[in-house]
Amino acid sequence: MEIVQSKTTKIDNVDFDNLEFGKVFTDHIFVCKFSNNSWGESKIIPYEDFLISPSARVFHYGQAIFEGMKCYRSDSDKLLLFRPKENFLRFNKSSKRMAIPEIHEKIFFNGLTELLRIEQKWVKKGDGNALYIRPFVFASEPSINASEANEYTFMIICCPSKSYYGDKQIKVKIEEKYSRAAKGGVGYAKASGNYAAQFYPTLLAKNEGYQQIIWTDSNNHQSIEEAGTMNLFFRIGDKLVTSPTSDSILDGITRKSIIELALSSGIDVEERIVRVNELINSYKRGNLKEIFGSGTAVVVLPIKTFGYKNDDFNLPELDNPWSLLLKKRLTEIQYDISSEFEDWKFKIN
Ligand SMILES: Cc1ncc(COP(=O)(O)O)c(C=O)c1O
Repeated sequence: MEIVQSKTTKIDNVDFDNLEFGKVFTDHIFVCKFSNNSWGESKIIPYEDFLISPSARVFHYGQAIFEGMKCYRSDSDKLLLFRPKENFLRFNKSSKRMAIPEIHEKIFFNGLTELLRIEQKWVKKGDGNALYIRPFVFASEPSINASEANEYTFMIICCPSKSYYGDKQIKVKIEEKYSRAAKGGVGYAKASGNYAAQFYPTLLAKNEGYQQIIWTDSNNHQSIEEAGTMNLFFRIGDKLVTSPTSDSILDGITRKSIIELALSSGIDVEERIVRVNELINSYKRGNLKEIFGSGTAVVVLPIKTFGYKNDDFNLPELDNPWSLLLKKRLTEIQYDISSEFEDWKFKIN
C-alpha cells in the first residue's frame, strides 16, 4: 500500500473536550478506486479536498453507501474496534443493493488497520471518547447516463467523537405521514439517499420540539420501525421488545449486541412487530417503562418523551433502567474493561 504522510497535523488545534460531531477530521484518508472491473491499488494520503467531475454519477443518481464504526482506546492503551466484521459485511450488503461492486475483505481491513495505526494519537481515552470511522463508496464515473457506474471510489475518513447527545434524554415523534423506507426498497442498506430523505420530515419534527422521528411502516403507519440512526427497544411489562429487522429496517450491530447482552443479563427479549396502539395502551396501563435507541453514534440513548398525534407521553424516571445497565455492559466491552464477549473485540495494536 502506498502511504504518503501528511507534513502537518491538525491535532494540536483540536479541543477534544468540546467536539461537535463530524466537523473535525484526522490527518489522513484511505482511498481505493474501482475501474476496468477491478479494485486498484490502495493508498493512504493526507486528508484534503479532491477533484471530481461535475458529471460524476453520485451527484445525479445518489449511487453511494457508507458505514459507521468506532475505535476505542482502553486504559492500558489498546486500540479496539467493535465487531468490525459486521460493518464489513453490511457494507457489501448495502453495496450489492445499490449495484456497487463489493469490496474485498483484505482491502477493507488493511485500509482500516493501517489508517488507524497512522492516526492512533487521535483515539483518546475516557468514557464516551472514540474515533468515529466512516468508510464510504460512491459512483465517481463522469457520466449522467441513468444506470450503474463503471468507476467507483472507496474511502475511509475518521473524526474524533464524544457521545452523540451527551447524557441527554431525547424527545421523539411517532411519524404518521412520511416514511423512511418501504417494502422492497433500500431501508436495510446504508444508502446515502435514505438519510437525505429523512432530513425534511425531521426538520418539521424539530420545529415542533422533537429531536428525532420514530419511523413507522409505510403502509399504514401502525408498526414501529426505527429512529434516525438508531434501532429501538421498548421495556413493556417485564420484557424487552424490539422490532424484527426487515428490508425496511437497518440491521444494527448495536441492536444485535444489546439483544445478546440483555439475554445474558436474564432479561426476556422479544423480537416482534410493535404496534403504535400497543405502545399507547401499554403506556396508559403503566406497562411501558422505558424506550431507548441503540446505534454506534449514540451507543444506548434513553428516550424521555414520545409524541403521537397531538399528545406527548413522558416515560417514568426509573432507579435502575435497563438502558443504563445494558449501556454499561456494552461500553465495558468496547473499552476492554470487561472480559465478556472477547470475540466482539478487534485489537489494532
Ligand atoms: C438507519 C439506522 N438505523 C440503525 C442504526 C444503528 O446501527 P449500528 O448499531 O450498526 O450503528 C444506524 C446507524 O448505523 C442507522 O443509520
